Amino acid sequence: MSATPPTPARSIAALPGPGGVPYFGNVLQFRPARMHLQLEDWARRYGTPYRLRLIGRDMLVVADSTLIGEALRARPWTFRRARPVQSVFREMGIAGVFSAEGETWERQRRLVMRAFDPAHLKRYFPSLVTVTQRLHRRWQKAAATGAVLDIQAELMRYTVDVTAGLAFGADINTIEGGEDVIQRHLERIFPMVNRRTTAPFAYWRHVKLPADRALERDLAAARRAVEAFIAQARARLAANPALRDNPGNLIEALLAARDAPGSEFSDADVSGNVFTALLAGEDTTANTLAWLCYYLCEVPATLDSLHAETAVVLGTAPQVQAFEQLNALPYTEAATREAMRLRPVAPVLSFEALEDTQLGGFALAAGDIVGALMRLPGMDAGLLDAPETFRPERWLSAEDARLAAAKKALMPFGGGPRFCPGRYLALAEIKMVASMLARNFRIVREPGVVGERYQLSMMPTGLRVRLEARA
Ligand code: HEM
Repeated sequence: MSATPPTPARSIAALPGPGGVPYFGNVLQFRPARMHLQLEDWARRYGTPYRLRLIGRDMLVVADSTLIGEALRARPWTFRRARPVQSVFREMGIAGVFSAEGETWERQRRLVMRAFDPAHLKRYFPSLVTVTQRLHRRWQKAAATGAVLDIQAELMRYTVDVTAGLAFGADINTIEGGEDVIQRHLERIFPMVNRRTTAPFAYWRHVKLPADRALERDLAAARRAVEAFIAQARARLAANPALRDNPGNLIEALLAARDAPGSEFSDADVSGNVFTALLAGEDTTANTLAWLCYYLCEVPATLDSLHAETAVVLGTAPQVQAFEQLNALPYTEAATREAMRLRPVAPVLSFEALEDTQLGGFALAAGDIVGALMRLPGMDAGLLDAPETFRPERWLSAEDARLAAAKKALMPFGGGPRFCPGRYLALAEIKMVASMLARNFRIVREPGVVGERYQLSMMPTGLRVRLEARA
């Protein structure tokens, strides 16, 4: 008896999708800062999966969590990150684990995972307490004067201080007026990375616009800050060679690997990964916190619930003091999950097929691109009631098959072998800040329209708040 022949793969070309222009296809229809909104609009219009035409290749756009998970897990051998990520990061001198591929990625990934594991996080916890205390003091002053705060910028100070502390062993204290050199330069570097990785062609290799010249200055300044972190870590290793076997942070681990006999790591790998930790860890966490603040303003009852939880867990203390308390904040976790569902700061992930393959029954040729819309699975009314509503409580009800499926469909930290290595750190930062905020303050949004801007990660625009101290 003969086996049933496999169903032939369908062609992407047959899928519906927006019309484009000759040669450029749909490429000229993107504006980098709104790219995710445009892709989601098309998903609503054409259904998913749908088809886009890029220069010389097709793109399959998916929003089904099963298909997304399949592609995420097939990296780095069947799919890779879209190619411009690697070339753009490399020429900016910021090549590290995020932009690496194949065996280079495997080597870097092992080191990075060790540096961010929960044991390291626990060791760093006292510094996390100190940085949070500084933010508390800063916000007490702001509340006393009634200052209007750009809350996203406030939170960037926090996350840059934490990343420098945990990953680089440096106390830079931008919260209390330390030099905010890195933060200022990164703020301008983020949108340029986005602009270049999504550009239809690499115009800057032929002609430099004012923005490209400014980028070079920002990169040079940020590089000097990175080199200073590396020099400090080198001095620590020289003073205490035992650190080579038991590095205290990411930068020490990278340097120890760089200096090991027969090492496959270069100086560029060290600085590229230091830069990468800043790029990948700073605005993602700050933006997630900023979106959480937005919803606490929009749905004040959720701030009250958060406050009630912190009153029980923290007692009279103004903030989390013990590592174990981080595991006793289920409402804070649920609110974070809900903010990440409605406003995932990585709303689009893209992959490139490394070989002829299939996804969801569609044939992909090597070089074809898959775009994954990460917000849409969490907006499915079949999985969640009133999916447009911010309702942390939904995650606290007794778990049934539907809730489990909803949890699985959300992938704010990606998935598969390249899932976010900074996840535990990010969640610890978010819980530290959200609980400190809810314990001590009320938060009120200034009138105005809040929008979404995509610049490497998706941030709120127009979000200004005032804090009021609680009695
Ligand atoms: C709420 C905060 C954060 C969110 C939502 C987030 C999200 C993500 C996502 C979606 C990816 C891509 C995963 C994939 O391709 O499957 C990623 C990768 C990455 N993240 Fe995060 N991230 C956050 C915080 C951090 C922090 C704090 C760090 C470190 C300081 C970090 C370091 C990285 C690195 C190095 C990668 C690349 C991993 C690889 O390619 O192997 N992230 N993150």
